[in-house]
Amino acid sequence: MDNKANTKSATLTVDGKSVELPVHAGTIGPEVVDISKLYAQTGMFTYDPGFTSTASCESKITYIDGDKGVLLYRGYPIEQLAENGDFLETCYLLLHGELPTPAQKKDFDSRITHHTMLHEQMARFFQAFRRDAHPMAVMVASVGALAAFYHDSTDINDPQQRMIASMRMIAKIPTLAAMAYKYSIGQPFVYPKNDLDYASNFLRMCFAVPCEEYQVNPVLARALDKIFILHADHEQNASTSTVRIAGSSGANPFACIAAGIACLWGPAHGGANEAALAMLAEIGSVDKIPEFIAKVKDKNSQVRLMGFGHRVYKNYDPRAKLMQQTAHEVLKETGHGDDPLLHIAMELEKIALSDEYFIERKLYPNVDFYSGITLKAMGFPTSMFTVLFAVARTVGWIGQWREMIEDPAQKIGRPRQLYTGATERSYIGIGNRK
Ligand code: CMC
Repeated sequence: MDNKANTKSATLTVDGKSVELPVHAGTIGPEVVDISKLYAQTGMFTYDPGFTSTASCESKITYIDGDKGVLLYRGYPIEQLAENGDFLETCYLLLHGELPTPAQKKDFDSRITHHTMLHEQMARFFQAFRRDAHPMAVMVASVGALAAFYHDSTDINDPQQRMIASMRMIAKIPTLAAMAYKYSIGQPFVYPKNDLDYASNFLRMCFAVPCEEYQVNPVLARALDKIFILHADHEQNASTSTVRIAGSSGANPFACIAAGIACLWGPAHGGANEAALAMLAEIGSVDKIPEFIAKVKDKNSQVRLMGFGHRVYKNYDPRAKLMQQTAHEVLKETGHGDDPLLHIAMELEKIALSDEYFIERKLYPNVDFYSGITLKAMGFPTSMFTVLFAVARTVGWIGQWREMIEDPAQKIGRPRQLYTGATERSYIGIGNRK
């Protein structure tokens, strides 16, 4: 482990016996107490449901300061990357640790662009899905199925194969996502076009039809590119931890990313933008907001303000600020500037940010609060929102997966438990049970 200062330790006293636990420091962020020898020394486990106080790994990729509302990819603030760079530059940075030189960028862009096509048999694989299948169900299955099509990049012990699999995932995921969308609306698949950038190509694969020319709107392409940058990585969140755990057993990268997509699907994670938009539609008008806020504050209602709150951010999510600005740009460009949902969102945000309930609990808008409205204005149906998140997050998942495989301290992820079930008892034959 780098950057650890073994000069400090914590003392734990159990039943009068004290053990010294080493404390490690990172480059920034909280120090960690190393409990890896705790069981051997004391016969005890630690208990931390939801891993709220547990650092599961060492990582050099992404840093979040939740109290200050800071997000850094490889040390670079998200605001600077979103304003000045493009998504593929962010991908390079996340994978390689440094921003690319012009030659490296050109080479990387070209490699990704030239791997966007899928094995043609994948198109037939799609035919097995019901035509009304949710695109996330299609994504989980089809990304997992990539392992059946690209055998030559599933040996996780070969660094070359790991890199090929990484490039394939980043290149092919937009093609799969667009196919999932086209399939759900009964339109023919649109093949990638190599003279377009990543986001423009994706828009075209989603919205073009073979019978007419399609012009990519540069404002929407830039906005989508920015959305991809904002969602590219977020350290050890639920889906990334899922990818790492799946990968820790030696599973191939396509299977691991499929596991990450499954986890992302949940409404507390990637499904929140879909849920936030549904919530805005349910509120319906600005005058209904106080009634809705009262429901959220009612302990018995189970209603949450979707797109608000975050496990790590106890301040404004920096991605939400950028997302709000992008929402305005997209709605203006598409002529949806007067969308009542945008008005409801802005008013809801204003009211929530001045309400004691939300202030006390440090609940601020997260990235999903404005992303649903933006994606809707671009023409995406709600069922595609989490799919777009998965497209962007693939680079984060693959980067974290590679970091794990290359970490000499890597072990299979195998948490323990506090068992509260029955103690040992004897089997009773079925005829003797009452
Ligand atoms: N609306 C109303 N109350 C909330 C909300 C919310 N959105 N989020 C948390 N609270 C309350 C919660 O009821 C609890 O109150 P009390 O202390 O009185 O019991 C307190 O705040 C702490 O909540 P928690 O559930 O212990 O916090 P958590 O860290 O486990 O949950 C969260 C984080 C993101 C799951 C949660 O804030 C939430 O459900 N938000 C809505 C869903 C959402 O927007 N998710 C997207 C997250 S960002 C994108 C991503 O990472 O995928």
